[in-house]
Parts: sequence; structure tokens; C-alpha cells
Amino acid sequence: MNLLYCSRMEEIIRFENVSYNYTDKHNALSDINFSVHRGEIFSIIGSNGSGKTTLLHLLSGLLFARSGSVFYKDKQITEQSLKNEQFNKYFRESLGYVFQNPDAQLFCPTVFDELIFGPLQMGKDKDTAFARAESVMQMLNIDCLRDRQTHMLSGGEKKRVAIGAVLTLNPDVLVFDEPVSALDPKTRAFLIELIFQLNEAGKTIIITTHHLELVDHLQSRVAVLSENHTIEKTGSTGEILSDTDLLIRTNLIGEHPHRHGSLTHKHLSGGFLFHKH
Ligand SMILES: Nc1ncnc2c1ncn2[C@@H]1O[C@H](COP(=O)(O)OP(=O)(O)O)[C@@H](O)[C@H]1O
Ligand SMILES: [Mg+2]
Repeated sequence: MNLLYCSRMEEIIRFENVSYNYTDKHNALSDINFSVHRGEIFSIIGSNGSGKTTLLHLLSGLLFARSGSVFYKDKQITEQSLKNEQFNKYFRESLGYVFQNPDAQLFCPTVFDELIFGPLQMGKDKDTAFARAESVMQMLNIDCLRDRQTHMLSGGEKKRVAIGAVLTLNPDVLVFDEPVSALDPKTRAFLIELIFQLNEAGKTIIITTHHLELVDHLQSRVAVLSENHTIEKTGSTGEILSDTDLLIRTNLIGEHPHRHGSLTHKHLSGGFLFHKH
């Protein structure tokens, strides 16, 4: 094992026997174990309600485990540990969370204000914040939006600005909740390319999705959440996408009728994987 390999395998996030429940009756997550290595792309997939967003909230210190432990590097993420101002600042700067719905994230009057908010909040000087905003606008092709009001933008534009507002913090880890849902094909392709670019620049990327096509594009390590809110399997994209039983069991694919003129036959959804005539 060489040094490069060792550094690639460094654990940056670890979940140990983590469970979470919003109400007494139901668990939103049960006994979750996995780790994410520095510099990798890691995908968490599962059907609606399987617990993806809850898992990302636990990972980002927006919720805290009811039992078990979440670690960032070797430090446990708890309400208590985040009360330490120095650690809180370090953690908030290290890990950037792009919400599924950009409206939940954008609150400044203009796009430019949105982009400089994070770095100024983290105590960076104005020059640094402005320089980061400029370079992020170039990267995301949103320079033309700089003076626009965020609430007036289209969904795809809002998504870019929400990503930009996270990128100006220059975090090591980027967390995307369902990044391609509700995006048009062009913005979707742009976003996939961006994820690769960020990863090549050394960022660790964690995404959730139920789009198997995205999973196939990213060719990452994958954890599959079941409808019982547990991790059913972790493996490479190839190992996961070739396991049809697993995908059916976890409701990531299902059978649906398909018409060709007067002929109807049945396909497994998850379309591109199975739609062969
Ligand atoms: N704020 C909440 N209050 C009560 N139950 C919730 C709340 N948010 C999510 N849940 C429940 O927790 C489970 C996991 O939800 P979530 O993490 O949003 O799943 P996903 O992101 O995979 O769709 C679901 O059963 C959902 O109904
Ligand atoms: Mg969700």
C-alpha cells in the first residue's frame, strides 16, 4: 500500500450505529453504519421517505443522532461539540450543504449578496469574499445574474446560485441532496460535470438521489437505503446497479407497462438500465 493510496482512504466521515426518529412511533433511520473517504464521490440512494435527507442533516450537524455516533474526521458531531465556537466555525466551513430546494437556502436580496454572505459570516475580509464570488460566478456561469433578486430567478438559476453560495465558503466536503431533481436536462448535465470538476479539484462529494441514471454517471461508491430505513447494501456502482433484486426490494425500480402502437409489454422502470428491445 503506497502513501497516495493511504491518503485516499482517509476516513473523513463515519456513522456508527446511528439511529434517528422524529416521532416515538417510527424510526427515520435505523442502525446506520458507513464511512466516506477523503476525495471520493459517495452516493446515498433510496426511494422517497427512506431517510436520505435525515441522513444528510445528521451528517451536517443540523440534527443529532438519538443513538450511535457521527464523526467528522475524528471528532464526534454532537450538540455539545458544536457549541465550541472554534470547532463550529471549522466544521461549518469544512462541509457545505446544498439543500434539495434552493428556496430553503437563499435569503439575501441579490445574487452577489448571497455569494459573499458565507465568507463574510466566516470572518473573511471583503476582498477575499468578493474575489471568491467573482470566481464562483465564472465557474457557474452566473455572472449575468449578479444583481438579480434571488426570488425572481428560475429553478435552474436558483440551483446554481445556491451551489455558488456554498462554494464561496470553499469547503472540503460538498453535500448535495437530490441535486438533479426538478432540473432541466441542460442544467442537469452542467451539474454532473460540475460535480466531476469539484471532485477533481480535491473535494469530497456526497450526494443523495433516487435517479439511477445519475448513479450510473457518477460511478461512485454507493450506499442503498431501504424502506426500513437501514443500509441494505454498500458497493460500487456496478455491484449495486447489477443487483436487480436489491433495486426492486428497495423500490428503486418497479415494473410498468409500455406501449408500442397496439403492442403493450412490461419493463422494469429505471428505464435506461433495462429498456432494451
Ligand atoms: N420533520 C419531520 N417530522 C416527522 N417525520 C419526518 C420529518 N421529516 C422526515 N420525516 C420522516 O422520516 C422518514 C425519512 O424522511 P426523509 O429523510 O425526508 O427521506 P428521503 O429524503 O429519503 O425522502 C420518512 O418516514 C419521513 O416521513
Ligand atoms: Mg429527501
